[in-house]
Parts: sequence; structure tokens; C-alpha cells
Amino acid sequence: MTELAIETSGLVKTFGKTRAVDGVDLAVPAGTVYGVLGPNGAGKTTAVKMLATLLRPDGGEARVFGHDVVHEADAVRARVSLTGQYASVDEDLTGLENLVLVGRLLGYRKARARERAGQLLDAFGLSDAADRQVKNYSGGMRRRIDIAASILTTPDVLFLDEPTTGLDPRSRNQVWDIVRIIVAQGTTVMLTTQYLDEADQLASRIAVIDRGKVIAEGTPGELKASVGAGSVHVRLRDAAQREDALRVLTAVLGSSVQLDADPVALTAQLSGEDTDREAAEQASRALAELAAAGITVDNFALGQPTLDEVFLALTDHPATTEEVAA
Ligand SMILES: Nc1ncnc2c1ncn2[C@@H]1O[C@H](COP(=O)(O)OP(=O)(O)OP(=O)(O)O)[C@@H](O)[C@H]1O
Ligand SMILES: [Mg+2]
Repeated sequence: MTELAIETSGLVKTFGKTRAVDGVDLAVPAGTVYGVLGPNGAGKTTAVKMLATLLRPDGGEARVFGHDVVHEADAVRARVSLTGQYASVDEDLTGLENLVLVGRLLGYRKARARERAGQLLDAFGLSDAADRQVKNYSGGMRRRIDIAASILTTPDVLFLDEPTTGLDPRSRNQVWDIVRIIVAQGTTVMLTTQYLDEADQLASRIAVIDRGKVIAEGTPGELKASVGAGSVHVRLRDAAQREDALRVLTAVLGSSVQLDADPVALTAQLSGEDTDREAAEQASRALAELAAAGITVDNFALGQPTLDEVFLALTDHPATTEEVAA
């Protein structure tokens, strides 16, 4: 049997009338990335805070490497590290100063703290910015320095709470690479996200949560299989060609094609019964027909249902954000 890094049963946290976490059972194998996927207000941060001993559960149990998060909180704290949803480094210090400070707080001697800080700045592509105040960092740089600060010593479990929300694609990729390095070094990572593609890229298993409850759990493949063939996403060079593209796609795919809010983008749902292979064939025919019609396509992607599509398939309602629910 594989060792479990995290195990919860019936975990509950309420805030007044809100059941933020409402009976969650999780089993996270050691040495893997575990994705917790859900929309705003689903309960991701609340769950992570209980596991990191920052919030006391109102019901159920949670263990980290066998240690109870309430009764053995110190043992849990010694093994976990949390990178919060909002950057927690000191804005007025430089990147280097921040990391050295954390190193000193963790008990490193000055030389060792500087050495370790240098290694991490290097590994995270921040060497050039080492002597700049963090308040002058970009969002992506801040996220990276924040993750660096939480892995100065190698934790057994690292909680990454929405590490890429609001980042541009390049910064996202850099954070993904960092996560891969961290897990390759033996740390178990629990990563919360609102993006199925992020969970798909990084996680070996995913729990989908909605209003405090786990509504699906499995490998990314299992999850996508339960959601159906997914969809074709097309971005055009020229918005003026979108009506033509709509006609072509509707003819080829015979399915519902939607115009996205983005004026150069369209999305076509593939029918749920299609196998992966049929879906790929349909998609390549669609791409060929678009080219034949003289339509310039900048981006063409198959599959990867969005969080909304996952929620529609699993719950018959879109991913309800807190604001909508309220
Ligand atoms: N300290 C608190 N006091 C009162 N309500 C809270 C508190 N923390 C969270 N909540 C509520 O609990 C629910 C879950 O919130 P949580 O922050 O865990 O969601 P989340 O999945 O992390 O969302 P997001 O993606 O927006 O970060 C929400 O309805 C939220 O308003
Ligand atoms: Mg959150």
C-alpha cells in the first residue's frame, strides 16, 4: 500500500451559516502532486488552512503523515509549509533579504542562509532581481519568491494555494517547472487551482470541490473521461473571419459552436459519446476545412474541458462563484 501524506475523513469547517468545508474525505499519496480544483468560494483555502494547522476543524479528522492536525499540531507543523494565496513576503526587503531572513528564522547561520537563498534565487530565475525590493517585482516574480521562501528547508508537504492565479502564461510555466522540481525532490505537493489544465499538467490525482464537498476524485484522465470528449477551442488571427469560421465549424462538427466573449475566439462542444480518437479526427478535419476556407487560425486546441464544462458535466450547473451564489 502506498504511504499517505494526507488523509482526511469527514472534515468540516463552518463560518456562521456557511459550511465552507462540508465533510471532506481525501487520501493523498506521498511524493505526488495532488490537485484540489474548484471555483471561488469552494472551500479550497479553508481546507488547506486546516491541514496546515492554521484553522481548527469543527468536525472530522485530518492527518499529515499520520499526525493529527489538532492533537499533534506541532508534529504536523514541523513537516509542512504553506504558500498562501496572497504573497506574504516583506515588500520593503529585497528578494535576497527576504530569503535570508526566513533562513535565519529557521535557524540557519548567516552564511548558510545566504548560500541557500542564492541557490533558490538562481533556481527560480531571480538572481538578477536579488537586490531589488520585492515591491518592485512583477506578479510572477513575487509568486516565485513566495514559493522560494516556503521551501528554504525542504518540507515533507507543501501547500500551494492557487500559485498561478493572475499570472501570465510564461510566469505560469515557470511556476509549473518549480512545482515539478519540488516534487522530484520528494516533497508531496497539495495544489489548489481554478484551472483544470493546471491540475492536468501537474497533478497525479485531482479532487473537484464544490461548496465544501468533493464532487469527483480521480486521475486527470478519469476526470476528463467522465466529462466527455471536451471541446475544440479556436482563436483566429482576424475577428472579421469569425462568422465564416462559425459556418465552417458548424458544418464539419455538426455540433453547437459558440462565439466566445473574446472577439477572435470560438468554442465547439464535441458530443459526449465520441471516443478520443473520433474527437481527434473531427478536430483535424475542422482545422483542414478552416485552412481550405482561407481562415487564419492562431490557436487551435482540442479537449481540455474548462472548469465550467467539468462542473456542467458533474453537477448540471456551472462553477458557481461565491458572488453568484450570494
Ligand atoms: N474567515 C472567514 N469568515 C467567514 N467566512 C469565511 C471565512 N473564510 C472563508 N469563508 C467562507 O467560506 C467559503 C469558502 O471560502 P474559501 O476561501 O475556502 O474558498 P476558496 O475555494 O479558497 O475560494 P477562492 O478560489 O476564491 O480562493 C466562502 O463562502 C467564504 O466566504
Ligand atoms: Mg482560496
